[in-house]
Amino acid sequence: MRIILVGFGVVGQNLAKLLLSRADDIYVRYGMKPRLVATVDSKGVAINQSGLDLQRLLEVKRLYGTVAAYHDDGKYLGEQDTDALEDSKRSRYRVDDIIREIDAEVLVEATPTNLNDGEPGLSNITNAIKHGRNVVTVNKGPLALAMPSLLELAEYNGVMLRFSGTVGGGTPILEFAKHCLKGDRILSFKGILNGTTNYILSMMECGLTFDEALADAKSKGYAEADPRLDIDGFDAAAKLVIMANWIMGMKVTMKDVIFKGIKDVSLEDILEAKEHGKVIKLIASCDESRRLRVEPMSIDKNEPLCVNGTLNAVTFTSEHSGELTVIGKGAGGMETASAILRDLIEVREAMSKGLNRN
Ligand code: HSE
Repeated sequence: MRIILVGFGVVGQNLAKLLLSRADDIYVRYGMKPRLVATVDSKGVAINQSGLDLQRLLEVKRLYGTVAAYHDDGKYLGEQDTDALEDSKRSRYRVDDIIREIDAEVLVEATPTNLNDGEPGLSNITNAIKHGRNVVTVNKGPLALAMPSLLELAEYNGVMLRFSGTVGGGTPILEFAKHCLKGDRILSFKGILNGTTNYILSMMECGLTFDEALADAKSKGYAEADPRLDIDGFDAAAKLVIMANWIMGMKVTMKDVIFKGIKDVSLEDILEAKEHGKVIKLIASCDESRRLRVEPMSIDKNEPLCVNGTLNAVTFTSEHSGELTVIGKGAGGMETASAILRDLIEVREAMSKGLNRN
């Protein structure tokens, strides 16, 4: 399987490490040999149609800060001209070119989430789908803003669009809801979808200030580059949109979610809830009337949903099996990379059955 990887930050690098360490096992278990034939970061690209040497790719990234230093096979987006590197239009054109011209079955999109216009992920994904590439993305922005049309575009072009790592990091929340309850019906769900705010609220309960807890969450690599996306509820709302589309068959985007973050939650609120055996959590929910909300709520501390630290948890209410809760780490480079690998295996299995469908 030939893969174009766009975005070589923490998740992209962990994917390369995972492919390196699991290569033999993946081949034995799934008959699949994933090869990165092009890897793009913000400064350049490394290309090798026979497959990049992943050890070398990781090493040049560590030493030079860009995959463009991959020597023989590496290419600078702007012909080694740093001014040109800043010319976003030119870089944009080149990334489009790579996606269009490099022979590959899958695009893995791992550029940072942008919830304003979804770029550059939205263009990368659209471009790949239009050129017949399957897409695996961990970028929440394009899905939060345009998931119904992206799914339709993928369907129309006969390719798969997969995004396990966008919700719950490595925890298979989307797969559980989509595949493990066949024959049943999910009526509603609610959950803690943002690790950073959960960490802040948990730590405030233990005596840390908001700022101390946020600094801690940042140092653990959980917070978004702009932590306001976590604190103001954007990140949880984006994940709720992805779940509503995929699990409930809704056709919604960010504008369909009423959301509020944790900025107004005071220490007094937290301590008062504690006195009554409750805790305040940022809860994302889709109720039976399919209303989508993200808001701080006080919940019983014995509820299965009540997890602490950076954990995520989702309780699904199903028609026949009742309430089921999935809990796991909601973020992390290796965890999210493991979700990409799951998606790649699913794409491979569908390809071998001739089933390029969503
Ligand atoms: N900032 C996100 C969180 C990262 O805290 O949950 C994972 O999407």
